[in-house]
Amino acid sequence: MPTVTVNGKSIEATPETRLVLAIEEAGINIGHRCGGKARCTTCRVEFVSGEPDSMTEAEYAKLKEKGLLGKARLSCQILASHDMEVRALMTLEGEGWTDTGPAPEPDVEPDAAWYPLNELREREGQLEPGEDIE
Ligand code: FES
Repeated sequence: MPTVTVNGKSIEATPETRLVLAIEEAGINIGHRCGGKARCTTCRVEFVSGEPDSMTEAEYAKLKEKGLLGKARLSCQILASHDMEVRALMTLEGEGWTDTGPAPEPDVEPDAAWYPLNELREREGQLEPGEDIE
């Protein structure tokens, strides 16, 4: 089983586990204020190693909108499919929240298909100005 390391804590995760849930399982109170739907970006992580080279359209669109493309990834849009090490960037303790948000579903929402970054950029270039890829 893949090893997920977050903020120095490691757990074994099944490969189908959403990274945000694996991070919680490791005892880190990471944010998921939109419930894991690629809308809030509070589940953002910085990869130390093992960053996937593909992402969902929803993750791409949200990171781009927030100016986070190349700086962070959304753990609600990633599966713990292989060994990886990340830093959780927004946590209950760090942000002073009273809770981390609604529990994310076990399956990735809203879209469970992953595409290479260059393919996402190409698709975006084919869209009309103002049209969203979500
Ligand atoms: S973007 Fe909200 S939980 Fe991931």
